[in-house]
Amino acid sequence: MEIIIQPTAEAATRVAARIIARLLREKPDAVLGLATGSTPVLLYHDLTALKLDWSRVTTFNLDEYIGLDAAHPQSYHTFMWENLFQHINIARENVHIPDGNAKDIPKSCAKYEQQIKAAGGIDLQVLGIGTNGHIGFNEPTSSLASRTRIKTLTQQTLKENARFFGSEDRVPHHVITMGIGTILEARQNLLLAFGQGKARAIADAVEGPVSSLNPASVLQMHPVTQICLDEPAAGQLKRADYYRWVYDNKPDWQRV
Ligand code: PGA
Repeated sequence: MEIIIQPTAEAATRVAARIIARLLREKPDAVLGLATGSTPVLLYHDLTALKLDWSRVTTFNLDEYIGLDAAHPQSYHTFMWENLFQHINIARENVHIPDGNAKDIPKSCAKYEQQIKAAGGIDLQVLGIGTNGHIGFNEPTSSLASRTRIKTLTQQTLKENARFFGSEDRVPHHVITMGIGTILEARQNLLLAFGQGKARAIADAVEGPVSSLNPASVLQMHPVTQICLDEPAAGQLKRADYYRWVYDNKPDWQRV
């Protein structure tokens, strides 16, 4: 794991955007895994501003609510088109987001996994983290080997996502999410977390035991994971000085 601590969310996002931009320049037909939520909004803004060529890029989103129309203002379909896809030259047929309205959800989840495989696997997966350590919507105690499937949101997540829906009772209780096993197969993971509210989950994920109680902790088992944090999100890391030292002393060829 590489822990990159920056003074602000803006600075941490700039590092993450450079990592993705480098990948797209080196591999114009890259397969990106994308995330939604408050955290990546700035990242998508920065990526748009970089005027990259997305014409051959394929994307797979982590998750979607079950039962929301794709056109619903809070669907992740809407989020992705508003925040990124409508601003870049991506081909519509290269965009993949789980179908929360599929008639046969287990079948559509299996198809999603097949589509990821058929695309050659995910080169880089963007991740946020929940205050409970979830990645995608893999809530605590999710199987560390799980694949794309239906999940029931925890009460904590329902409460936190109520801010997008106006009230908690409007938040769908069920979602489709890539599994933790799916995320672990991405060739690179890039997790972003900002704000003091994420500090405990980040400390447990980075310095705690690998446990399904904090699903992000499984990233300790992944060979290439970068975690971009602002100072408040890094606030409970015991070895923050060590991570800063390592980042400041990277050889030039490793820098982004
Ligand atoms: P947030 O959500 O970016 O809205 O904080 C992150 C997550 O739940 O994964």
